[in-house]
Amino acid sequence: MSKKIGILVGSLRKNSFSKKIANAVIGMAPEGFEFEIINLDGLEVYNQDFDDHDQVPESYGLFRDSIRAVDGLLFITPEYNRSIPSVLKNALDVGSRPYGKSVWDGKPGVVFSNSPGNLAAFGANHHLRQCLVFLNVPVMQQPEVYLSNIANALDDAGHLTDDSVKKFLQKAVDSAVEWFKKFDGTR
Ligand SMILES: Cc1cc2nc3c(=O)[nH]c(=O)nc-3n(C[C@H](O)[C@H](O)[C@H](O)COP(=O)(O)O)c2cc1C
Repeated sequence: MSKKIGILVGSLRKNSFSKKIANAVIGMAPEGFEFEIINLDGLEVYNQDFDDHDQVPESYGLFRDSIRAVDGLLFITPEYNRSIPSVLKNALDVGSRPYGKSVWDGKPGVVFSNSPGNLAAFGANHHLRQCLVFLNVPVMQQPEVYLSNIANALDDAGHLTDDSVKKFLQKAVDSAVEWFKKFDGTR
């Protein structure tokens, strides 16, 4: 049975660089691995009342099930104001509740951050890691993956046009795969 890896993209934007990276990464998965994007488009903002009063929106249930169904997590995130975009933080929050029933617990994770700027979303990358420590998601430490000046590495159709970025990303995916192989029985 192949391992399923859920990709969580920290952007809803139609022409998102992060989405383009996610699609490129899907094409880099080796045999025995299936990478799929977990859609965050319709995920409602977390409100604890919904869980406390048994009025959970359908989007929470579908999202929680989609995380339970994967063996590992690949986060591909841009940075908003030196931190995690709210869409990703919201997904972490929704998946973490009800208390004691977090869907993240023990799932291995990998973080790739990117930016059209020079700093490659370092702040988002590390704020995300901070949350993942609390959520008990063991995160690949090395290689760290920061993709700077990302607009220069992609064409409009989303193809990677920079060979060095393409090679770096393939090596990062290979390392992620080795990381995921270390974990069994997470779904
Ligand atoms: C609200 C907001 C805050 C942003 N803050 C940062 C930031 O702190 N660091 C950074 O490198 N880029 C920042 N940007 C620019 C994003 O990197 C850029 O919009 C990028 O294309 C977003 O990722 P996406 O292409 O995957 O949607 C910000 C953009 C928005 C909309």
